Amino acid sequence: KQGEYEEPRRGQIHFSPKRGWMNDPNGLVYDNGEYHLFFQHNPYGVNWGNMHWGHAVSKDLVHWKELGEALYPDEFGTMFSGGAVVDTKNSSGFGSAQKPPLLLFYTAAEKSWTQGLAHSPDGRTFQKLEAPIIAKITDGNRDPKVIWHEPSKHWVLVVYVTEEGEQHAMHFFTSTDMKSWTFASKVLGGQGNDRYLFECPEFFELPVEGAAGKRKWVLTGANSQYAIGTFDGKTFTPEEERMFSQQGRDYYAAQTFSNEPQGRRVEIGWWRTHTNQDGSAFNQSMSIPMTIALRKTARGIRIIRQPVSELSALRTNTQKLTSSTINASSANVLDSFHGELAEIRLRIKPKDAHSIHINVRGLHVIYQVAEQELVVDNVRTHAPLINGEQELRIFVDRIGVEIFASQGEVFMPINYNLDPKNTQYSLSTSGGSATLLTGELYELKSIW
Ligand code: FRU
Repeated sequence: KQGEYEEPRRGQIHFSPKRGWMNDPNGLVYDNGEYHLFFQHNPYGVNWGNMHWGHAVSKDLVHWKELGEALYPDEFGTMFSGGAVVDTKNSSGFGSAQKPPLLLFYTAAEKSWTQGLAHSPDGRTFQKLEAPIIAKITDGNRDPKVIWHEPSKHWVLVVYVTEEGEQHAMHFFTSTDMKSWTFASKVLGGQGNDRYLFECPEFFELPVEGAAGKRKWVLTGANSQYAIGTFDGKTFTPEEERMFSQQGRDYYAAQTFSNEPQGRRVEIGWWRTHTNQDGSAFNQSMSIPMTIALRKTARGIRIIRQPVSELSALRTNTQKLTSSTINASSANVLDSFHGELAEIRLRIKPKDAHSIHINVRGLHVIYQVAEQELVVDNVRTHAPLINGEQELRIFVDRIGVEIFASQGEVFMPINYNLDPKNTQYSLSTSGGSATLLTGELYELKSIW
């Protein structure tokens, strides 16, 4: 193990491939006791290109074992993003009801721009169909996502299409055998640089917290901008549109697991890095896994995220902080904590402080009380915050932090290479005082 996965710029609580460039998560699915994480992969170099589907599996969403490539480029093109399902009813006929096949839906890109299907009996070997399942609509159409719609008893495939005038659109198809697909409807997004509903559709239904019995459908594109609405099996009708479910700057092309055994909606996104990797053999990483839910808020129905509970398996040394007042003359309550990898939970109630500062190994996370904002100063990134008492939950890795606030309504993934020599933390206020209600500080173990 010495040396492996221990490059100075490799995230230690985030998945990354051993070698090569990685971008979008693909085909997130649970099957037969394992979570599968396929991903956009260039096995030959640290820059984007030669797209394959890389492959890793996990029993707990936290520790991953990388396997060989699942899909290789072929005469139709390179392997762009897509989804996966377990065909439990064997509608495709590639397995049996006792041994349901795992199906991968991908785009054969850069040549034919067609959508393809590969099937697997065991989650290890993958057999592509010879013919595409959906012909080219326009150049650049891509990223099929497939779900089962129980009320209509058919499969639904959503695919991104660039229409005339650089109009972004999501096209919906239906099928009962996974091989022949019928166009059903489409939803228009932004145009050109307006990236609403651009690339990598994700589509699912969830109950709404705070609205008993109500369920809503969510349609998102790669930048986490989403619509909430209704779906009749063929047509998605947006009711609220263009909200962003994250306020970071490095999160892209997120997907959720199909067939999740606990019925949760678990998401992983591509956590982009902006820096080169000091000559190491890999590039880019994934986010931590998170659950997604819908909540009725004062502003409307919104996506909320929480880190999955499985992450608590990484906790090692723990410090608990009791309630105290933080002001200009109070001691730094985080002084004796030095986790290189960490999870920090601070419940804070502002009194007359203008701002509350959390220094995370040199990254400055600031709660601006009057402005009702959370700011990460080093990267000038802002998120609107619900005012008043806050629980800030921060995951710290070598490559940056993921911040959760306002009961999951705020999610700020901030990719930032932390100084390996700086493991200092501090909590302070300016312009007045605040109350630290509770604090929990965990050092985390590496996932590798
Ligand atoms: C999003 C994306 C997808 C495409 C893939 C190619 O990051 O552009 O639309 O399938 O990357 O690697």
